[in-house]
Amino acid sequence: MHAAPPAPVAIVAAMHEELAAVLAQMPDEQRVRVAGRDFWLGHLHGQPVVAVLSRIGKVAAAVTAAVLLERFRVRAIVFTGVAGGLAPAVRVGDVVVATELLQHDLDASPIFPKYEVPLMGLSRFAADRAIGEGLAAAAALALRDPVALVGRAAVDAFGLASPRIHRGLLVSGDRFVATSAESDALRRDLPDALAVEMEGAAMAQVCHDYGVPFAAVRTISDRADDAAHGDFARFVAEVASRYSLALIGAWLAAQPAAGEPAAT
Ligand code: ADE
Repeated sequence: MHAAPPAPVAIVAAMHEELAAVLAQMPDEQRVRVAGRDFWLGHLHGQPVVAVLSRIGKVAAAVTAAVLLERFRVRAIVFTGVAGGLAPAVRVGDVVVATELLQHDLDASPIFPKYEVPLMGLSRFAADRAIGEGLAAAAALALRDPVALVGRAAVDAFGLASPRIHRGLLVSGDRFVATSAESDALRRDLPDALAVEMEGAAMAQVCHDYGVPFAAVRTISDRADDAAHGDFARFVAEVASRYSLALIGAWLAAQPAAGEPAAT
């Protein structure tokens, strides 16, 4: 009798630009179309993976997570892509690895406390600690030489020379935060939030329901302020895809070979 093949890990991004370089590195991929999305089954650094674009927003993220869990039986989901920096020290080109995630636009008060997912008694969903530590270590390795990663012109244009890695709260909502008034309000209401995006906390909630590990690593494309729209578009076009590949590639390369026990 043969042992069952190891379950794949899911690599998810919202937009094509955030995952294009990862998909280009999967030589043996096989496409399976479910719920209007292409799920790419294959290998990266010898690890079985399912790569998929969720599309943008919390509902899109939740549907994608449910399909990954029900149909592809993934052993973990890792979300990658870009986010807007909120905490003062979180700059464009830095990387945020989530330790916990919250939906900043969820508010059923006064019935339930603001941000709490009704009937779950939870507002913050913990990201998987071991995967988060692995992603932070991979980010430190991957970002040692930003010029090699994206070229001198992009490093100078975006100020990427000395990127920092942050770990902490990532907040998600169905809104691209593109005014200083909005990001000021988020900083006031959620002072420990490091960055804002539009999918992570929804996926974390679905993974919590299924008891499957979830992790998120985001490169900062903008400061969620009045200049966010322009900064985001340029960063996504010129930098995001290579950062995702470097981060995810370094993390997968450090995993034990498929079928080998994990180091303790
Ligand atoms: N993803 C990247 N930048 C963002 C922003 N400013 N708001 C929401 N999601 C984002």
